[in-house]
Amino acid sequence: MTILYEPERRNAQQLGMLFGSDLHTVATAQELAAALGRRPDELLVLFGPGAEITEVAAFVAEQRVARPALGVLLLCASVDVTVLGEAMRAGVREVVDAADIGAVRTACARSLALSQQLAGASAASTGSADGRVVTVFAAKGGCGKTTMAVNLAVALADGGRRRVCVVDLDLAFGDVAIMLQLAPQRTVADAIPMTGGAHSAGRVDETALRSLVTPYCPGVDALLAPTRPTDGDHVTRGLVSDLLAIARRLYDFVVVDTPPQFTDHVLAALDASDQYVLLATPDLPALKNLRITLDMFNLLDYPAAQRLVVLNRADAKVGLTGADIDRVISAPITAHIPSSRDVPVSINRGVPLLVDSPNHPASKAIRSLANSRIASPQQQGGGRGLRGLFSRRKGGASAPQASGPGASASGAPQTAEPSPEQPGALPHGPAYPHTGVSRQRGEIR
Ligand SMILES: Nc1ncnc2c1ncn2[C@@H]1O[C@H](COP(=O)(O)OP(=O)(O)OP(=O)(O)O)[C@@H](O)[C@H]1O
Ligand SMILES: [Mg+2]
Repeated sequence: MTILYEPERRNAQQLGMLFGSDLHTVATAQELAAALGRRPDELLVLFGPGAEITEVAAFVAEQRVARPALGVLLLCASVDVTVLGEAMRAGVREVVDAADIGAVRTACARSLALSQQLAGASAASTGSADGRVVTVFAAKGGCGKTTMAVNLAVALADGGRRRVCVVDLDLAFGDVAIMLQLAPQRTVADAIPMTGGAHSAGRVDETALRSLVTPYCPGVDALLAPTRPTDGDHVTRGLVSDLLAIARRLYDFVVVDTPPQFTDHVLAALDASDQYVLLATPDLPALKNLRITLDMFNLLDYPAAQRLVVLNRADAKVGLTGADIDRVISAPITAHIPSSRDVPVSINRGVPLLVDSPNHPASKAIRSLANSRIASPQQQGGGRGLRGLFSRRKGGASAPQASGPGASASGAPQTAEPSPEQPGALPHGPAYPHTGVSRQRGEIR
């Protein structure tokens, strides 16, 4: 039996007639809480046309933690874009015209099927391994990192079947909120007082992180960047590491968006990552910076097998051939994302292309990357062990040290790309002066 929350009697009666005995109607938040309390296995709640969107949002926010498998549908007298946007942001699974009983029944069936899968998955995954951290990085600005991060998150969430957190580590100029049309109530900067201040050793915990994220759509939450650029100044590398460690316990995937520099925060994210999506566009500065990034990754022992090199706007006609691109990068390209004006159009609408046009060629390319290289079972087990083996965390004691400028543990040229079959069998060298990252500590000088 499904629970319907409908404060207006007339609406309740009409919907009751349409659903028959399948529906248990409640008219207040208290009755709803009591009905749910009596039904610990309930998987679906409908909100009728008389419900306020704020009530729906509050309910969904509470249940997301208490009962992650519970589906919430909103039945409206008329479905308009504003209600749709608010409802999706709140985490409502679908918004349906209350008068279209066929559509309501189909949406209910879809939601129940998803809830059953989620309930099964969470029962099976109790006590299972942590989620995976995927950092999207490019050393040149404007390559499409944020576009990739938000669309990748939507693809990985797979309509709510997986839980994904997008973390905006572009602390000064983060764009995740604007790309998802989210109004940041709480941001990563709000974690600072939770630790007792910038110079305290206090730690955030799961409850704290849950209170910091902003829900976007089923399966996707966002930890947003501060609204004022200077607010990120007190976010320490340790805090980023803590937040990511907690996020990976709460989510199946944590997708990290980054600024176009190797900041301390970015290095903390890279250290915590299972996979790295490294972007470039087909122009020489971006390709050159990707090459430098790959050299840096060699230097910092980030396993080659966990790097996913992505050429964004791959088909843009800008005078470089595929051979030119291969020559500059000298590394295998994992995915090509086509260029399309629909991408900036989707950004300006504040709706990721994958949400709006799931069958668009760019959406398909990102989904294919997500499914075949990130979410696929053979990738699930791969990264952690390698990262553990080569991790520089805790002072980087496990990273082999360079012995001086030009030093190479293997004797191989520093730009040599390691074989994916032998991740970690990498040349080691000195700091790259133009990046400002020290070889020994992975810190900004
Ligand atoms: N595949 C694509 N086709 C067309 N335009 C694209 C594509 N990918 C990204 N863009 C456009 O490129 C611009 C930069 O994208 P985005 O903001 O995601 O890059 P970024 O790497 O996050 O930038 P920044 O370094 O400033 O944070 C945006 O206007 C976006 O619409
Ligand atoms: Mg960006």
